[in-house]
Amino acid sequence: MSTPNLKTASRLDPIKPSITLAVTAKAKALKAAGVDVISFGAGEPDFDTPDHIKEAAKAGLDRGVGKYTEVGGIAPLRAAIAGELGRVHGMTIAPEHVLVSAGAKHSLFNLFMALLDPGDEVVIPAPYWVSYPDMVMLAGGKPVIVEGRAEDDFAIRPEALRAACGPRTRALVLNTPSNPTGAVYSAAQIAALAEVVVEQNLLVVSDDIYRSLVYGGATYSSIAAVGPELAARTILIDGVSKAYAMTGWRIGYAAGPAPIIKAMSKIQGQSTSNAAHISQVATLAALTGPQDCVETMRQAFDERRLAMVELLRAIPGVTCREPKGAFYAFPDVSAFVGKSTADGKVLADDVALCDWLVEGAKVAVVPGSGFGAPGHVRLSYACSMANIREGVRRLHEALVGLRG
Ligand SMILES: Cc1ncc(COP(=O)(O)O)c(C=O)c1O
Repeated sequence: MSTPNLKTASRLDPIKPSITLAVTAKAKALKAAGVDVISFGAGEPDFDTPDHIKEAAKAGLDRGVGKYTEVGGIAPLRAAIAGELGRVHGMTIAPEHVLVSAGAKHSLFNLFMALLDPGDEVVIPAPYWVSYPDMVMLAGGKPVIVEGRAEDDFAIRPEALRAACGPRTRALVLNTPSNPTGAVYSAAQIAALAEVVVEQNLLVVSDDIYRSLVYGGATYSSIAAVGPELAARTILIDGVSKAYAMTGWRIGYAAGPAPIIKAMSKIQGQSTSNAAHISQVATLAALTGPQDCVETMRQAFDERRLAMVELLRAIPGVTCREPKGAFYAFPDVSAFVGKSTADGKVLADDVALCDWLVEGAKVAVVPGSGFGAPGHVRLSYACSMANIREGVRRLHEALVGLRG
């Protein structure tokens, strides 16, 4: 018998598994083994999906929901999304220019697959959400990382965007509020980037998954709303995972220029087909039903945000900018990199620091390296206040105990 050839495709060679999922899985495994770990790893609300959304899904099941639907999603849902995104971005969106997928992650994957030829470049501001560079590479493209500076609250400057552009640059990824930094681009910063986008003839991938979660007077600014020239070159990526506590329902959507949405639909039609019918029905209820649940959860996140930032800033050696959106704090812990633990282990980088924190201090945080920002860690504050207090206490105790 010949040995089976189990070689996997070379397109996977540069691809890393998602570090956020890895940290969360490690914390979960320790918990399952009876270890009392506090996890700040997961990027998901701890709230249950609101009752009226669950009720709509239950009623849907009783009506016989559970069939294949149109690839792009059921008509009333696409209409509701077109209406909602049209309002937010100050433009008219036709329901045919909306594609419903299995999460915003899936929407982004379809988009990069639809857009990129081998060697095409996509500008990704750092710190970035872990999946953008790998998705671009899976689609055959080349991520071009532009670093945002801490003193600009991690927003990239227009001249840095211009300098990163070349003949193969197709698109800029804009994620505001940002995962992992919680930074929110101001209207002026968006307008300045928009100028370069038009000048360099780029498309914009506007990942707005956290747009409803802004705090302390910050407001979400849409690049598509800057003007028709921007609306015509922006692909809006959005979804219900974060704002409605619906991560596991797996619904995200894209809206944008017809040829691009059509190409994305073609890919989806030959891969996953429609997003789950029952989840589409639940999403329709989320978008068309009462919206006070979003505000209630936002207020809870805001309280936790303030508590977490205060506790982090109280740790000598930690600096933490105020996150203005999403549900993450992204402190600079570079002062602790290179220090040693009580038993003599040197923590050479933020990954080693995070490994030691989860095993030694029983607190899980995600290393900044995964987001293109070594020396930082990401903590999600979408968890209970009790966990925030105890988890950051553990972090505090562990960090101040390091030597060297
Ligand atoms: C910036 C960003 N975009 C997209 C997603 C994907 O969201 P979904 O759960 O809808 O796939 C996430 C989830 O963590 C995210 O943080």
